This record gives sequence, C-alpha cells and structure tokens, in this order.
Amino acid sequence: MKIAVGSDHVGFEMKAIIIEYLKTLGHSPVDFGTHSVESTDYPVYGRKVATEVAGGNFPLGILICGTGVGISIVANKVQGIRSVVCSEPYSAKLSRMHNDTNILAFGARVVGFELAKMIVLEWVNAQFEGEERHQRRVDMITINPKGD
Ligand code: RB5
Repeated sequence: MKIAVGSDHVGFEMKAIIIEYLKTLGHSPVDFGTHSVESTDYPVYGRKVATEVAGGNFPLGILICGTGVGISIVANKVQGIRSVVCSEPYSAKLSRMHNDTNILAFGARVVGFELAKMIVLEWVNAQFEGEERHQRRVDMITINPKGD
C-alpha cells in the first residue's frame, strides 16, 4: 500500500524508523518531510500529507510530531480526513474498524520506537468494518455547507 508519511523536526528520527518498518511490511511509504532536525512548523507537514490523502493519491497517511496532537488537528481540518492520535494499538485498530480513519498520528515524545511500530502495524492491517451503523456514523462526521 502507498502510505504518505510526514513529521515535524521532533518526529524526524521516528519518521525514518517508521518508513523503514513500513518497507519491511511490504508497503510503499513516501516521505513528505521534514528532512532534518532543524526546527520547523508541524502544520506544513500535516497539511501536505492530509491533502495527498484527501486528494486520493494515497489511501492512508501517518503523521508524527512531539505529541501527535498538533499535526492531527491540522490533518482533521482538511475535508475528507479522519485523523486519530494514538499512543496504544487498540485504539489505532478500532479507529480503522469503526471510524474509518485515514490518517494515524502519534507523538515521538510519547511512544518509543517499538510501541510505535505496534501501533502502526495494527492500524495499517485493520480494515473498516463497513457495517451500516459504522458507515452511518462516519457519514454523519462529514461537514456539509450548512454545518449540520
Ligand atoms: C514542537 O515543539 C511541538 O509543539 C510539536 O512537535 C507538537 O508536539 C505539537 O503538537
């Protein structure tokens, strides 16, 4: 699977590890930056990856910052994105099964490398169950121009 990956400077090292891990799982990650530990702004990378996923170029995206919070907030501002911040694998898996999340975010200052890999594995391997009640609820998330 093609997976868009992005981080700020805090997530830079973690991003490299996750990209290599995704390759060992047979996926094709694409790195949307940042490309160094020089201080930068997480909204840039959150928006880049979210736009790629929302535009249909990638089915899934992974975002990393210090906590995962800021970069996930940015992603969720892009129409069509359902981003989840996770620091354990159970929520990551269920977020795909029930909420059809298309972006996973986590914090490089919150989880260690091995836990991050477990979170990624469960999230990437899970599938939206697609049952009527879950689809209905996901549809209800979608904002229409009237805001209801
Ligand atoms: C950067 O210091 C930090 O604020 C950022 O990585 C992230 O945690 C924001 O939510």
